[in-house]
Amino acid sequence: MIEFRELQGKSVIVTGAAGCIGAWAIKLLLEGGAHPVAYDLSDNRSRLQLIMDDAFSVTWEFGDISDYDQLLNVAKKYAAVAIIHLAALQVPFCKADPVASTRVNVLGSINVLEVARQLGISRLSYASSIAAPAMGDNDYLATLYGAHKICGEQMAAVYWQDWQVPSVGIRPCVVYGPGRDQGMSAASTIAILAAFAGQPYRIPFTGPVSYVHAEDAALRFVTAVAQEQKEAPVFDLNADVVDTHDIVSMCQQRFETEEISATGDSLPFPAEPDDGLLDSFLGTAKTRNFVTGFADTISLFSEAQRRNVLNDELISQLIAKNL
Ligand SMILES: NC(=O)c1ccc[n+]([C@@H]2O[C@H](COP(=O)([O-])OP(=O)(O)OC[C@H]3O[C@@H](n4cnc5c(N)ncnc54)[C@H](O)[C@@H]3O)[C@@H](O)[C@H]2O)c1
Repeated sequence: MIEFRELQGKSVIVTGAAGCIGAWAIKLLLEGGAHPVAYDLSDNRSRLQLIMDDAFSVTWEFGDISDYDQLLNVAKKYAAVAIIHLAALQVPFCKADPVASTRVNVLGSINVLEVARQLGISRLSYASSIAAPAMGDNDYLATLYGAHKICGEQMAAVYWQDWQVPSVGIRPCVVYGPGRDQGMSAASTIAILAAFAGQPYRIPFTGPVSYVHAEDAALRFVTAVAQEQKEAPVFDLNADVVDTHDIVSMCQQRFETEEISATGDSLPFPAEPDDGLLDSFLGTAKTRNFVTGFADTISLFSEAQRRNVLNDELISQLIAKNL
């Protein structure tokens, strides 16, 4: 448990709090003595319930990130000192609805920056992605999602240049662990869940992937607002590079099943090891390795099952959503 001294009792808005990284950020903020305010279009607390006991005591504002006035009013209402901006639509959703996703990913990001500017909020961290560097002159896949993330980084740079609104942009690699259940790279976590539940599952990609545990990712977004910042740096957040077939083997061995497999091409995004730059900037300890994260994920699934927040019906729903 990490105490965030500069955030004690203070309100921190977490956009996208119902999501995977958001749920972990809420948990860490609560444990660290801050007052998190969840801001999400959804009131579905199932990811929070999975990882913490008292999900329904979290302060919750049902809000749309693309609504500037609503976000401004929530920030004023709680006298927020910081914003952790995670709300976004991921790769498949952007492809499915380009206009709506641009509203969320681009307009939503400018709204966060503008609220910070108007209210003098000087603690802001936001999620970019490894899909952003994939937009350059390389063999990776250019996506609308990656274009949105590049745009967010560049808007943050201008907000520092023109109005001295500081921010820290973090580009996570593939996030895994409890709560990761949507987006094109969620399949590795779903495979672990399926193996845990004795159900068959096929990961629709192969090859090496850089993985960061959801709690380790969330810790970096929280730590970035737990200290004063200057400028608008952007960091990659890579961690452990693991081959998809090794994850299949880990599932097969741990649960004595032959029903977990992987097929298809590699994910079209960089799979780089951690460069250590974000941790030296924030002073955070190195992320856990995948073997530890795999074990942690299984023990949290067991704990959630014991508390009856992870049952067969939910597991089947999560698997079906990722087929
Ligand atoms: N999961 C990953 O592997 C990964 C990797 C790199 C970057 N990221 C980025 O990290 C951030 C968090 O990722 P995640 O995996 O927790 O995402 P997620 O998909 O689990 O959660 C996103 C949340 O945003 C909310 N949201 C969507 N539209 C909204 C709107 N208009 N207003 C308010 N809330 C809205 C959703 O309801 C959801 O709760 C995102 O910005 C994502 O692009 C994620």
